[in-house]
Amino acid sequence: MSSGNADYRDSGLVFPEDFVFGAATASYQIEGAWNEDGRGVSIWDTFSHTPGRISDGANGDVTDDHYHRLEEDLDLMKRLGLQAYRFSISWPRIVPTGSGEVNQAGIDFYSRLVDGLITRGITPIATLYHWDLPQPLEDKGGWVNRETAYRFEEYTRVIGAALGDRVQIWTTLNEPWCSAYLGYGSGAHAPGRTDGADALAAVHHLNLAHGLGLSALRAVVSNDPQYSVTLNLHALRGVGETGAEAVRQIDALGNRAFTGPMLHGAYPQDLLDDTASITDWGFVQEGDLEIIHQPIDVLGINYYSTNAVRIWDGVSERVSADGHKPSAGSAWPGADRVEFVQQDGPYTEMGWNIAPDGFEQLLRDVHAEFPDLPLMITENGAAFADVVTDGAVHDPERTDYLRRHLTAVHRAMEGGVDLRGYMVWSLMDNFEWAYGFSKRFGVVRVDYDTLVRTVKDSGLWYSELVRTHVIPE
Ligand code: FCB
Repeated sequence: MSSGNADYRDSGLVFPEDFVFGAATASYQIEGAWNEDGRGVSIWDTFSHTPGRISDGANGDVTDDHYHRLEEDLDLMKRLGLQAYRFSISWPRIVPTGSGEVNQAGIDFYSRLVDGLITRGITPIATLYHWDLPQPLEDKGGWVNRETAYRFEEYTRVIGAALGDRVQIWTTLNEPWCSAYLGYGSGAHAPGRTDGADALAAVHHLNLAHGLGLSALRAVVSNDPQYSVTLNLHALRGVGETGAEAVRQIDALGNRAFTGPMLHGAYPQDLLDDTASITDWGFVQEGDLEIIHQPIDVLGINYYSTNAVRIWDGVSERVSADGHKPSAGSAWPGADRVEFVQQDGPYTEMGWNIAPDGFEQLLRDVHAEFPDLPLMITENGAAFADVVTDGAVHDPERTDYLRRHLTAVHRAMEGGVDLRGYMVWSLMDNFEWAYGFSKRFGVVRVDYDTLVRTVKDSGLWYSELVRTHVIPE
């Protein structure tokens, strides 16, 4: 039963009946069928097909083959008892070249997915952009080019009209921080470019796309959905005397560069000042902030771990300034003197520190800043090196991670945070971006040779939680 211990290992905690438990995935990570039924090429196809970009040389050509195994996967979700499923839509399946012609086969696929969810009593939560930009748009500058935001608006209008009678929650973007800073700053993610000014232009054009996308959805949907965006807000810990200044700089780039325009209607002045030697922010045009600053119904938060930062003393050996993803350039333009400090374990297989207390604090902080905005956890989970034993996967570390983080969620709610749901990352093992298949996040195992799905012990545990709304033993 509930121990109340500070180690966040409570069991027996009860979640409200209307709290929604589900699972999340993303199109490029699970679908495969990369060149079938009219799908265009995305930046992740190009990136993963480029030698040296993915640590284990893998790509998403087949991955979980979800595109061909849709019914099986829907049945799996039903078996787990999921109440909601957060998936993303592959833009190049809908508009293969990024502009103009629409691919009906792509629309049909997502229409079958949404119908299949509804038939099984599972709420569809659709993300419009989880990083798979059509390659022809990247060839014209990608997110550094303002035009991409307008192409996003067009794509949104198409898919919004097609699914806008059934999708319950629309999420415009997943983690625009990654798209901008890892895609155009550090180069760890597609398209692999490394220019600080480009990364900041991408930040703004992604924000603009969010606003344009919301307006497009509002104009075409016929049901009464909720609108949202998913941010990977950074939970930051300052180290030593310079910690507070380092936190301020990283908070500006990593968090307030998005929450500022989206939720307050302005870029924070300190962000503009910190980056003044890199860009004059001339890409922000008159009227943009009004477009970006629109009401949303729920804010999606993805959380995995914390970051500890301080200002480099200029003497001791410099630690990577890029946090927890491999990188060539910098993911933090303008924060050149910020140093990311190794944190205490335990760690997941990603090397990320396990910190449920950081999760609770983040949720409390976000709620304090936006008290009227409901929150939803749109991703949380952990990679561990799973072993199959007699056809089962005993993964107590993952269950422990989930228990601790769900305890954090519960404690935040007890503390008054308005949290509406929790989507575990991920439904099943999949292509983990620059890490390929080397990191397994699923509560369901995928054997990449046979594509057989096996529910892990953590999946059975999660399924019990979903059904009872009580954190199991
Ligand atoms: C998040 C991504 C998601 C997954 C997890 C582990 O940054 O949104 O696709 O890769 O990390």
